[in-house]
Amino acid sequence: MAPHVYIEDLHKHVGQEVTLKGWLYGKRGSGKLHFLQIRDGSGIVQVVMSKAEVKEEAFAAADKLTQETSLTITGTVREDKRSALGVELGTDANSVLTVIGVPTAPFPISPKEHGTAFLMAQRHLWLRSKQQVAILRIRAEIVKQIRNYFDTRGFTLMDAPIFTPSACEGTSNLFEVNYFDEKAYLTQSGQLYGEAGAMALGRIYTFGPTFRAEKSKTRRHLTEFWMVEPEVAFMDLDGDMDLAEDFIVEIVKGVVANRRAELAVLERDIAKLERIQKPFPRIRYEDAVAVLQNKGKPTVFGDDFGADEETALSEEYDRPILIHRYPAAIKAFYMKRDPNDPRVALAVDMIAPEGYGEIIGGAQREDDLQALEQRIEEHKLPREAFEWYLDLRRYGSVPHAGFGLGLERTVQWICGLHHVRETIPFARLMGKIEP
Ligand code: 4AD
Ligand code: MG
Repeated sequence: MAPHVYIEDLHKHVGQEVTLKGWLYGKRGSGKLHFLQIRDGSGIVQVVMSKAEVKEEAFAAADKLTQETSLTITGTVREDKRSALGVELGTDANSVLTVIGVPTAPFPISPKEHGTAFLMAQRHLWLRSKQQVAILRIRAEIVKQIRNYFDTRGFTLMDAPIFTPSACEGTSNLFEVNYFDEKAYLTQSGQLYGEAGAMALGRIYTFGPTFRAEKSKTRRHLTEFWMVEPEVAFMDLDGDMDLAEDFIVEIVKGVVANRRAELAVLERDIAKLERIQKPFPRIRYEDAVAVLQNKGKPTVFGDDFGADEETALSEEYDRPILIHRYPAAIKAFYMKRDPNDPRVALAVDMIAPEGYGEIIGGAQREDDLQALEQRIEEHKLPREAFEWYLDLRRYGSVPHAGFGLGLERTVQWICGLHHVRETIPFARLMGKIEP
């Protein structure tokens, strides 16, 4: 039998006889000619079968194929300028079509339009569609770019625990679990552990699933999402913003270079991604409030920014913006106050362009023992659970900073997707845990 070749490699085999192994994605034609769309995960290719040229049983088998039937087929690769792949598969009297698995019922997802609720319920099958395959590939590419960025710049990957005894990002959205009759929580962020790692290894990043019992049904909130969190000893807020900016530019560049075809499947405007260059505008929170007021918004100093405010602020720019020095009162306990203005924390958020909202949250950390003890008290956090974290300030405390990038929000922005639910294979949302 002719050698098995993946569809993405077919262009290297023009003129050769090969075997495809895949599924029927679509079919059209007449009583004399079949055009089969075959997918194998690496791509989709057209197989042309003429009744006059192939064996009778091959033509008859093709005639009966239904969507998502699994099969193998042999044929000859030939150039086809009209196809995105540049090739199609021709068939002749030597061609063999072998059916592997015949669907027991019509495939639930037909080429016609379906509602999103239906598609989400069929997520395990929806993943096979061309757009979803493109999103998953881009997601994997973003992960690769993230790892590559840190791995080639002296950072060490450090995994943080998922079961934790305490909150990192406020107590209102914790998932509680029973840990051998003790209360534990699913982690909201690896940061506190990352800080311990930075004191040991200098520059680290954590990268793993994080959990928020978010009671908000928005197009940007998941209850389980992946976060990458660099943490660097001897870095201040300016260094943190430099790092975040450089990191985002490199990721977008890598995705555009390696996943052009997938971005095209999603009809993403690549020119917009190519404009993601340094420097990103850096705006003080206080100035951002003034901008919003000038746009007629009722925002006042002390308000947190929601999706509307973020969009209003970013719409002037063709690249992400960095908003820094938020009021300390609306930010996390571990953030250092600005010595020049104690009302504000040395915090930064990165807002993606085109209305995609916050993708990064970060800060310079409080490195003074007493100030941190006071914050823990003010936030009514259980002191015992943070003793180990306070130790980091007791033994050779140094200025340090870091940030967290939400993977799914980043995939959503780069892919240009309306809702975050399509950015992760099996989304976990408020009120949704299946399939
Ligand atoms: O701004 P957040 O809450 O920051 C932290 O957790 C810090 N401890 C990070 C750090 O400094 N090491 O979350 C960081 C990012 C957000 O900017 C957003 O991209 C993403 O995580 N994120 C969510 N993504 C999807 N669904 C949610 N419910 C999210 N909550 C946060
Ligand atoms: Mg945030």
